[in-house]
Amino acid sequence: MAKMTKLDDIVSLCKRRGFIFQSSEIYGGLASCYDYGPLGVELKNNVKKAWWKSAVQMRDDVVGLDCSILMHPLVWKSSGHADKFADLIAECKKCNVRTRLDHLQDHAEEHTEHIDIDVAMAAEHDLSKKVCPSCGKVGQFTEPMPFKLMFETQMGANVDDSMTLYLRPETAQGIFANFRNVLDTTRVKIPFGIAQIGKSFRNEVTTKAFIFRTREFEQAEIEFFCEPGTDEKWFEHWKQARFNWYLELGIRKENLRFREHESDELAHYAKACVDVEYKFPLGSGDWQELEGIANRTDYDLRQHQRGIRTLNSWFENKGDLSKIDLKQEADDYEKGPLSYFDDEQKKRYIPYVIEPSAGVDRSALAFLVDAYDEEEVRGEKRNLLRFNPALAPVKVAVFPLVRKDGLPDIAGKICDDLKKHFTCFYDEKGAVGRRYRRQDEAGTPFCVTVDGQTKEDSTVTVRDRDSMEQVRVSTDQLLSHLRQKLED
Ligand code: GAP
Repeated sequence: MAKMTKLDDIVSLCKRRGFIFQSSEIYGGLASCYDYGPLGVELKNNVKKAWWKSAVQMRDDVVGLDCSILMHPLVWKSSGHADKFADLIAECKKCNVRTRLDHLQDHAEEHTEHIDIDVAMAAEHDLSKKVCPSCGKVGQFTEPMPFKLMFETQMGANVDDSMTLYLRPETAQGIFANFRNVLDTTRVKIPFGIAQIGKSFRNEVTTKAFIFRTREFEQAEIEFFCEPGTDEKWFEHWKQARFNWYLELGIRKENLRFREHESDELAHYAKACVDVEYKFPLGSGDWQELEGIANRTDYDLRQHQRGIRTLNSWFENKGDLSKIDLKQEADDYEKGPLSYFDDEQKKRYIPYVIEPSAGVDRSALAFLVDAYDEEEVRGEKRNLLRFNPALAPVKVAVFPLVRKDGLPDIAGKICDDLKKHFTCFYDEKGAVGRRYRRQDEAGTPFCVTVDGQTKEDSTVTVRDRDSMEQVRVSTDQLLSHLRQKLED
């Protein structure tokens, strides 16, 4: 049975083997920002590739998009983020550390997601007996206050015409803003989806827990547009599709579950939401959100239709979003630019949206945790990552058994040939047993070793990471043998 993984084991392996480093480490590090090293970037790229393949390339009803991170500020007014994307916090008067109020509740889990700010503000908060998690002082908190989570930046060199922009807190809004463009330039018909992978930024109050919650992270999101009334069917479809994606890539079923959101937990835009949760080894409450699947109704497209009509007001108020009211009057939304005309049914409507929203970094962490294993082999500890081959940073390692007798040349040639097909790694240093162990720890599914017999009969050994079994394969069959094993 697989060993229970601790987050510390993963953090230490990631650092030791070049998966993930602390950002700006040579300057003492930058809190909650991480860099992906040589193995980490391959893993993360493979997660994105697997997501893109399943979300876009294997489907006829989803197209891709890659939007800019910086968008017109009115986007965030319309989406509700400018006014509502905040956490309710209180500051300890003794140590000045700010804490999210929901993390001060009894039995609070530090890794829960954001609570709707209106819901949080409406609740009663008695902080007189609350303990500061940072300095341990009791009842020293200020009055609760909202803390905005979007990062601000300035665009433009001139003082007069520079404007305040926001680093996007979700990739979704770029998709809504391009809904019309995609509709007008492709042959998509409802129901269809638009998918995007990209960076998002949130000035999170609580981070910690390695790459689980960071201030800069990547999201993989689909906005799936459908006819109102069919939304519940598509919600179910995406729930199952996304759950199965994790299972197909090797996550063990006992570590994955759904959690329906209570009505008071729903984000301001959602009619229903379910989280795919993974049993992360985070200490305080193991089950945590890996991905959210939300029924966003027609909220966003309606809001953007209102938003684009407030452009004049935005100029008049010199870009001050707090002075702008979105026009709420009941004009005919169905005829607005973000509505859809259904040719067959001869009717116009604003589509509903089902949104599966995954975190790329959080998925990479789940895949690392789930793949991590330790076992004893002939009295020695073996650490390994049992990655699904599609996710493994290196697919095949090639070794000459010894560094003489022409074996390095043969192994080098084999490696160069295989590189055209898979990510490969050549290693000739140290005892072959140690080289196997290093590849086990990197999650490499197969090692190919060239030995004395190779020169006699053109065969090599192929060692399987998980079973450690070795088989001899002729060099002219090697590519098809590996291909079949890796694509199984
Ligand atoms: N567009 C909907 C949306 O952004 P969300 O639940 O806030 O929904 C979706 O985020 C996913 O993005 C989460 O399930 C998580 O995997 C990832 N995510 C959110 N905030 C994150 C953070 N601070 N660090 C890492 N991943 C994060």
